[in-house]
Amino acid sequence: MKRREFCAQTGLAIASTFLLSPSNIAQASNSYQLVAQTASQQLAGPSDPKTELMLYGGTSPGPLLTAKKSEMLKVQFKNRLDVPSTIHWHGIRNINEMDGVPDLTQPNVEPGEDFSYEFAVKDAGTFWYHAHNMAWEQVARGLYGPLIVLEEDERLDASNLVLVIDDWRLTSDFQIDMASMGSLHDWSHSGRLGNWLTINGASKPDIQIAKDMPVRLRLINAANARIMTFRLEGDHKFEVVAIDGAPCMPVSTSQITLAPAQRLDVMVELEQAVALLETSGREPVKAAILKPDIAISQPVSRRPAPHSWYARPDVNEARIIDIHMQGGAMGNLSSARFNGEELSLRELAQTHGKLWAFNGEVGGYHNLLAEIGLMQTVILRLFNDTGWPHAIHLHGQHFWVQSAELTTEPVWMLRDTYLMKPQEKSDLIFIADNPGQWLFHCHMLEHHVAGMGGVISVG
Ligand code: C2O
Ligand code: CU
Repeated sequence: MKRREFCAQTGLAIASTFLLSPSNIAQASNSYQLVAQTASQQLAGPSDPKTELMLYGGTSPGPLLTAKKSEMLKVQFKNRLDVPSTIHWHGIRNINEMDGVPDLTQPNVEPGEDFSYEFAVKDAGTFWYHAHNMAWEQVARGLYGPLIVLEEDERLDASNLVLVIDDWRLTSDFQIDMASMGSLHDWSHSGRLGNWLTINGASKPDIQIAKDMPVRLRLINAANARIMTFRLEGDHKFEVVAIDGAPCMPVSTSQITLAPAQRLDVMVELEQAVALLETSGREPVKAAILKPDIAISQPVSRRPAPHSWYARPDVNEARIIDIHMQGGAMGNLSSARFNGEELSLRELAQTHGKLWAFNGEVGGYHNLLAEIGLMQTVILRLFNDTGWPHAIHLHGQHFWVQSAELTTEPVWMLRDTYLMKPQEKSDLIFIADNPGQWLFHCHMLEHHVAGMGGVISVG
């Protein structure tokens, strides 16, 4: 079902969830309990059925977690699902044992078990957390939430708010489309695209913002696979001030792109109500209505500093690691190694549900892409030799990459997830200063489960 047809079925904006109501936003407390459970939520209009989901704390998105920069974040995770799960803290330069990757950095948390996550948050910015066991299914069913690390003097309010965006695939009775879960067609093409867009768990919500002053919107793409593009109705501009959590030189633009797992913080200044449009489909979809309200008097939102957390390293002595990305529909992968055996793509697909490879090897949570010495400067030299875009994510550290996504000439940006076009070649540069076993994978979650991933070992 096309999203546009589907959207036409229901009308109006519905009541806001807690995240849309600034007065209810919890301020930094840094100690939380997250219970994963099945629960239902109204993703559509008030007269439509509720959707059965897997949620943290019974809400979609999961609770907004905040902590102040340099503090410890403590989260007691209780798995009350009937499937194993773990939590990954996306974009956090975490210690390896708290990274939440099952079988690589911790055992799976079994149904009924608890696990306590405890780690320091080094960088202020916009992050998110999500399930990492069978993420392609668990994230699609709702297991994710926002994580915001605040500067000492910063607070979340109507001039500094969080927008978690998802693209659900629902049936006509508003339930998660389980029949297509695991579809090899999705896995070999663009991933699981949805037909129902929500912001903070609501369809086309009204979002109250401060009026006539710069407001910071922290956008998080929590979709499995949809590359979202946004613009504002009329000719209003976004000023991008942070990318994947890290502040940047501000760039003014009327259109922004967020690949799965990416974040952008943008400043907007509005006098009257304006629709936020998601334009990746054939027709623009109203994602939300931004409603400036003079009654909300908030201090002007604090802007991040116009420079990144740290500087781009010198690459003179860098170790170059080539990563050849292949596979998928209409690709050139004829065979690849899987569990030590060279298998044809047909056999990989039909017998094992595998379709993608890095350097001729079908990836999982174990296959090693590279071993790197601690503090070595690294260039991951990627070649996307496939017919599809990929949102490439490195755990445990950010990397520098040249991107022309916001400007006509490419500029350097610090990211943890980078969208590569088909046939693109790009260098991801970082200093391997975080020891451990770090997953490197496509964040189109269907591509990852079907082989597009591997491990980079540091130290
Ligand atoms: Cu959002 Cu393996 O990550
Ligand atoms: Cu991909």
